[in-house]
Amino acid sequence: MLKHKKTLIVTCLSAAIIFVATTAMRAPQQQQEEPGFKNLKVLPKNITHDEMEKVMHEWSAALGQRCGFCHARDAQTNKTDFASDAKPEKLMARKMMTMTEKINKKYFKEDKDDKDHGGAMTAAIGCYTCHNGKAHPDATAPARNGNGGRAPGMTPPPGGGTPPPAGNPPTGQK
Ligand code: HEC
Ligand code: HEC
Repeated sequence: MLKHKKTLIVTCLSAAIIFVATTAMRAPQQQQEEPGFKNLKVLPKNITHDEMEKVMHEWSAALGQRCGFCHARDAQTNKTDFASDAKPEKLMARKMMTMTEKINKKYFKEDKDDKDHGGAMTAAIGCYTCHNGKAHPDATAPARNGNGGRAPGMTPPPGGGTPPPAGNPPTGQK
């Protein structure tokens, strides 16, 4: 169940990024009605409300956060000021989107001569690929074999760890 959900989110996310990046640019005449977003620096300026909502919900899901994680609240109106750049998380998210697009363009662009993948590599990464529902992606493998995920011979972490029961394969649990 969870697996399916994850796959769905990754798929939706990749699709949304590609959709937003290509469709919105190619068909400006269909999107003349200005949705009136005030402060877009990485998303297309003529993005529709529907597209924006999709992207924002996917980013939230990818990081396991609510809108307020990136968007500041206006102290006077006590409402979320979506155009404000007051939160560093929002600035980071912009960089992250640029990075994600660069990775996809450089390493995952469709390559008709890509013999290794049957001639058409279409896979791409999205926020969820790294974030997996967390604000901070894990940089190291989960502790296992009582050695904190370190390579054999490296110093174990303080306090060591619990060796897995004999005969059981590593579970990948923390
Ligand atoms: C991971 C960070 C992040 C989360 C979570 C997030 N946003 Fe955003 N949002 C951004 C960034 C970054 C921009 C600016 C994009 C740009 O510069 O092109 C933005 C822009 C917007 C804008 C356009 C504001 C304007 O006028 O310029 C709206 C509306 C918005 N978000 C709504 C939401 C809603 C609603 C949610 C929750 C469902 C949400 N966002 C969750 C990062 C986030
Ligand atoms: C290649 C892996 C990767 C991808 C893809 C990725 N991120 Fe990140 N992101 C990271 C890492 C690693 C960090 C933690 C950096 C740190 O700890 O300083 C991070 C941090 C962040 C933060 C700051 C979190 C905080 O607590 O301050 C935000 C916001 C964020 N990412 C948003 C996004 C969004 C939105 C996307 C998709 C458009 C995305 N990321 C795609 C690896 C990734």
